Order: sequence, then structure tokens, then C-alpha cells
Amino acid sequence: MFKTALITGGNGNLGRLVAQHLEAIGTKVVSFDLPSSEGAHCEPRHAVVLGDMQDQSLLEDTLTAYKPDVVIHLASMLSGSSQANPQLAWEVNATSSIRLMRLCLDRNIGPFFFASTAATYGPDLASPVALNTPQWPENIYGATKVAVERMGVYLKLKQGFDFRCLRFPMVLSPSAPAGAMTAYPSHAIAAAARGDNFTMPVAPSTGMSTLYLNDVTRSIVEICSAPRAALTQHAYNLHSYVFTAQDLVEAIQSRFPEFTCGFTPGSPTDDLILRWPDVFDDRAARADWGWEPHYDFDATVEALVQFAKSQS
Ligand SMILES: NC(=O)c1ccc[n+]([C@@H]2O[C@H](COP(=O)([O-])OP(=O)(O)OC[C@H]3O[C@@H](n4cnc5c(N)ncnc54)[C@H](O)[C@@H]3O)[C@@H](O)[C@H]2O)c1
Repeated sequence: MFKTALITGGNGNLGRLVAQHLEAIGTKVVSFDLPSSEGAHCEPRHAVVLGDMQDQSLLEDTLTAYKPDVVIHLASMLSGSSQANPQLAWEVNATSSIRLMRLCLDRNIGPFFFASTAATYGPDLASPVALNTPQWPENIYGATKVAVERMGVYLKLKQGFDFRCLRFPMVLSPSAPAGAMTAYPSHAIAAAARGDNFTMPVAPSTGMSTLYLNDVTRSIVEICSAPRAALTQHAYNLHSYVFTAQDLVEAIQSRFPEFTCGFTPGSPTDDLILRWPDVFDDRAARADWGWEPHYDFDATVEALVQFAKSQS
């Protein structure tokens, strides 16, 4: 197992859980995240570095000081915040990520894990989406992620960089990041637990491929731990289940009968999700490194409801 892991975005939704997984198996975690995220990390860490991904010298100092043997790169602007500031999204998500990969390559650090997204695909794809489907995103978030994927593969092929990448679909989690357009299911369940009504930013029939947070964070540790020779692909798609907004309302109402809900067909979020596929072909991940989701839709809703009740 790894001695020291650097997790960028270590105070984020995924980063905090990945850190817990790694610490539980004896890996020292160094978390790198924005100063504004201070306080988000709740468990002891080997070290916390507060700074911006755009600060090359701080990244260099961090790699030199802690000498990680794995880098899990999760720091990113998400879909909503990228759309609000495309120029900054390019600097943070694309330029800074590529710079970090080069710094790791120079120091012979690997594996290097990159969190990509189903948003790297273009709209109106046939479902299930094959792993080798061309990636032509029409959104800036997806465009920044494709840029890093391409450069990671280039450095892998030309210079032996140990680049590992997963494309996640919608991730359901108890504390959904505010900048994610796909956070509405978690927010709906939290509203139901508070006794509030909710308006889904989508139509009743809208849904997309989904994973629960714990499966996502486990998958990151698993792909980083897999023997390099077993990985036949540069990047893998993951999938667990698909549900619609109407499925979600019924699942919530079976637990909170008073819950009522409106819908927003034709909204920008509805338009975005409607055009995303229901199923991604994850057979390569299953075959190469034993990927298997543990949470189906019911188990996810139950986990989110238990969390929401614990907060209200
Ligand atoms: N949650 C999802 O639905 C989803 C889906 C697909 C891919 N991903 C990817 O997984 C990764 C983690 O996502 P998350 O859900 O934990 O999001 P998150 O917003 O909770 O975490 C991202 C972290 O990155 C940090 N960050 C942002 N800009 C930074 C900068 N300039 N310098 C340093 N740190 C910075 C933020 O402070 C935050 O803590 C991201 O790369 C995201 O694109 C997430």
C-alpha cells in the first residue's frame, strides 16, 4: 500500500472520504485545498496545505516536502461554477492540472489519479455509452476535463507517466457540493427531512447514470491500488443505476408521506441531464480491476435519508 498520498481537493466532498479510506489502511494523507475550505476536514490528517492549484511554487514545495507516492487529483471547479466563470475554470481545471502532472512526472511520482466526468461526452449519445465513444463536450467543465485526459494519456504514452482516470456520472452524496448542477436529489431529501417542499430543476421523467458517493471514493482507492499491468484502458467509465426525478419523489414519499414536489421541465439543468445517457458501459473496469458498485438506488436513498435525519 502507499506510504504517503497527496489529495488535491482534500477538503472536498470526495476528498474527505478518500482521505478516510487511505488513513484507515495506514497511508499518510497530505491534503491540498483552498484556504476557504479550511475547517471542512474533520479528522486528523498527516498534513494540510492550504493554497491554490494555480500556485506552481506551492505545489512544487508540497511535492518536495512530502514526497507522496500517489497523487489523487480531485481539486476542481464543478459544472455550475465552471459555467459561471469559464476562464477561471480553464486555469484551475485544465492548466493547473496539466502543470501538476508535469511536476509529478519530473519527480517520478505515480500513480496519478484524475477525476473525470461523464460530462466529457457530447450530447445526444446512444445509451449505453461505449468506452471508446468520442468525447466532444459542449460544456466548459467537460472541455477542461477532456484536455487533462488527453494530456495525461499523452504523458503516459510518450513518457511512461502512471496516469489513471475514472469518468464518474452523477454522484449522489449526503453533502452535495453547491457548485454541482446534479446536487438536486440530495437537496430534495434534505428538504423532505426538514419538512420542506422542493422544486426539482428537471422534469419528472428526467434521469441519468448515477453512483453513490461511497462507491466513488472506494473506486478511487481501488484503481490506484490496482497493478499497473492490469489496466488495459487509459480511462474507465463507471455506472451503478439510473433513476428519474419521479422515482426519487416516490422513494422520498414512501419515507416522508407529507413531502410534495414541483418540477421544472425545460430548465437548463433539465436540458443538460436529459441529453446525458442513462447507462455507461463499465465492463472494462469490472474486468480489469474488479469494479463493482455496492449501492443501488434504494440503498442510496436510505443512506441519504439516514444522513438527512441525523442533521435535522
Ligand atoms: N460530485 C460529482 O458529481 C462528480 C462527478 C464527476 C466528477 N467529479 C470530480 O470529482 C472531483 C471531486 O469532486 P467533489 O464532488 O469532491 O467536489 P468538491 O467541490 O466537494 O471538491 C472539490 C475541491 O476542490 C477544491 N478546489 C477548487 N478550486 C481549487 C483551487 N483553485 N485550488 C485548490 N483547490 C481547489 C475545492 O475547495 C473543493 O474542496 C472533481 O474533480 C470533480 O470534477 C465529481
